[in-house]
Amino acid sequence: MRIDIITVLPELLRSPLDISIIKRAQQKGHVEIFVHNLRDYSNNKHRNVDDYAFSGEAGMVMMIEPIDRAISTLKSERQYDEVIYTSPDGVKYNQREANKLATFENIIILCGHYKGIDQRIREHLITKEISIGDYVLTGGELAAAIITDSVVRLIPGVISDETSALTDSFQDNLLAPPVYTRPAEYKGWKVPDILLSGDSKKIEKWKEEQSIERTKRLRPELLDEE
Ligand code: ADE
Repeated sequence: MRIDIITVLPELLRSPLDISIIKRAQQKGHVEIFVHNLRDYSNNKHRNVDDYAFSGEAGMVMMIEPIDRAISTLKSERQYDEVIYTSPDGVKYNQREANKLATFENIIILCGHYKGIDQRIREHLITKEISIGDYVLTGGELAAAIITDSVVRLIPGVISDETSALTDSFQDNLLAPPVYTRPAEYKGWKVPDILLSGDSKKIEKWKEEQSIERTKRLRPELLDEE
């Protein structure tokens, strides 16, 4: 898989994508991640990528031209399954969407900034708008990092334990059961006896019950989703 991220703040993305599992995934060739500085596609000497809103609203708007040039350059080299724009008014991101994106070959993520992007970009160049939640960030970079992280870890081979990604919270609309490690007792706080019983069948049943109980208690709306 290949992920191209277009941003005015490449520095903001460097560290989250260059560490731990996501770094190893790139080194092992499971994914290629390219961060493009939108200013490299500006056509003026100040490298501007934004301008005043025609509507007279406060705040700058990202211009069409540099974005069109960046996206067109990438598209001239390969086909993209999706051109994503990160924005608080996009569709709310979830595990199902991450699963879908992880099946794709090539995606572009355009990070929003300032007051937004010229509407014509959204109409003509963007194929999907994603919000990571109902709150407003200073820019779409952290959203792009979150989307990339959640997708890359699903690519087969990225997480060493093959089944690990499949047993995550949300994969079957259930939260994961609690986990414990040694010591079995600390300050009188005990690990549930059943986990020390060695009875794998009983343990599996307990985990399932815990998942359902936690989901009902903490995220009941997940049980209504198909
Ligand atoms: N940009 C600013 N806020 C955002 C959000 N909640 N999701 C995605 N991109 C954003």
